[in-house]
Amino acid sequence: MKNRREFIRISGLSGLSLAGSSFFKNFGESSQKNRKQTFNMSGYAAPKLDIVRIGFIGVGARGIGAVERMSMIEGVEIKAICDKLPKAVNKTLVAIKGKGHTPDIYTDSEEIWKKVCERDDIDLIYTATPWELHTPIAVYAMEHGKHAAIEVPAAVTIDECWQLVDTSEKTKKHCTMLENCCYDFFELLTLNMSRNGFFGDIVHCEGAYIHNLNEEIIWSKNRFVDMWQLKHIIKRKGNLYPTHGLGPICQVMNINRGDRMDYMVSLSGNDFCLGVKAKELASNDDFYFPFAGKSFNENMNTSVVRTERGKSIMLQYDISSPRVYTRIQLISGTKASSLKYPSPGRISKGHEWLSDEEFKILEEKYTPPVVKKIGELARQIGGHGGMDFIMDWRLIDCLRNGLPIDQDVYDAALWSSIGPLSELSVANRSSSVDVPDFTCGSYKTNKPVDISLLTGGTTGVRKIENKGGDVQLKI
Ligand SMILES: NC(=O)c1ccc[n+]([C@@H]2O[C@H](COP(=O)([O-])OP(=O)(O)OC[C@H]3O[C@@H](n4cnc5c(N)ncnc54)[C@H](O)[C@@H]3O)[C@@H](O)[C@H]2O)c1
Repeated sequence: MKNRREFIRISGLSGLSLAGSSFFKNFGESSQKNRKQTFNMSGYAAPKLDIVRIGFIGVGARGIGAVERMSMIEGVEIKAICDKLPKAVNKTLVAIKGKGHTPDIYTDSEEIWKKVCERDDIDLIYTATPWELHTPIAVYAMEHGKHAAIEVPAAVTIDECWQLVDTSEKTKKHCTMLENCCYDFFELLTLNMSRNGFFGDIVHCEGAYIHNLNEEIIWSKNRFVDMWQLKHIIKRKGNLYPTHGLGPICQVMNINRGDRMDYMVSLSGNDFCLGVKAKELASNDDFYFPFAGKSFNENMNTSVVRTERGKSIMLQYDISSPRVYTRIQLISGTKASSLKYPSPGRISKGHEWLSDEEFKILEEKYTPPVVKKIGELARQIGGHGGMDFIMDWRLIDCLRNGLPIDQDVYDAALWSSIGPLSELSVANRSSSVDVPDFTCGSYKTNKPVDISLLTGGTTGVRKIENKGGDVQLKI
């Protein structure tokens, strides 16, 4: 058992009863005690914006790609590029040169992002910084009248999750998490199949983020600025990156929109890889000396969630074992099941997978309208095979048509909350933890995400340069 201070640090809360298991049982309730929804942001349609004026904050490995993608979407004006590192800003300016945008630049200071949020000619702040800045920036942006789009995870403590919810409700500004995996092709296909009853009642789903970053990525001096991700991995123990596996599953299960997560348990083993690697690197290079001998997040974390309607979710996280990439993406229903990884994705109605021919027939029947509309173009533009572009296009199209956004603030808060909740459970022998209801009861009547594209779908795409020539220009 860790000490009281450790409990509080992990939960981001103070003043709770820490008496034995009741603390964990009541954790979710305590964190939302006396909370009432002041305005329901689920299904909320903000006033239409003909032009969406964007300020980007954080243009490292992920952010620069977002700027490039957005620069191709009609109705987007890139007003500001902000990164504390001038070289990141400069690289981004080069990437969008000749694409009709002339953003102002903000750089060379830790808090310069506030100036971007304070402008009065920006509609959307798009953030791709290290995790610990996501909530502070999104809250500040909303308080200054901007919609906020934040990379994953949206928050790192339960307190931050509530800050996002409270601020979005108070300001009536959208706060969306950029969970791109919700827009991958197999995930959208199976979401549409589930909407059409193909799987019957959903019984159980599985997701994961199993991605070996221990080779070069996490240790590279040039990858994550200031080695920020490594610092999280030393400080925290649990599932630090839950949303890629979880987002698509929650949409299939209508979590926050008919059902809610009730409680979860989370278990980790030991770290067998990161500590060894740190020592090995430190023996040859003093740069790594501060990391040697530290206690790292464990190799494998497994969390299990039970929903109020008696369904279950299994979620795994492992970024340090030499394993093949997987997000699992298993859907198990009373009539059928599907499994995305190992690729290719497959569908089953019983003991065997359906044949390729049978799969093709289902694919033709259930490919959702958004994929029919821009799927091919998105594949050509790229960004994790196209899903990043579908996500950005859909966000802009919703804002321009005054439609509710697909991932609202309750999704951002809930999916991100699994990180700190897993830390809390892991730190306490996998005790069960209640999951807060960030919708404060409105999940009972909130409508599922609309994938029909019956409204909207009017946003075009600009001419694509340097992407293999003569591809479709307009949709
Ligand atoms: N959805 C996805 O598939 C995906 C993929 C990669 C990364 N991400 C997410 O994107 C975010 C960024 O990751 P990354 O890989 O680009 O990391 P990165 O380190 O390459 O980039 C982060 C950028 O933020 C900048 N930054 C740091 N502090 C700042 C400050 N105070 N003000 C302004 N800028 C600041 C850094 O200089 C850097 O350029 C993370 O949240 C990560 O989880 C998502």
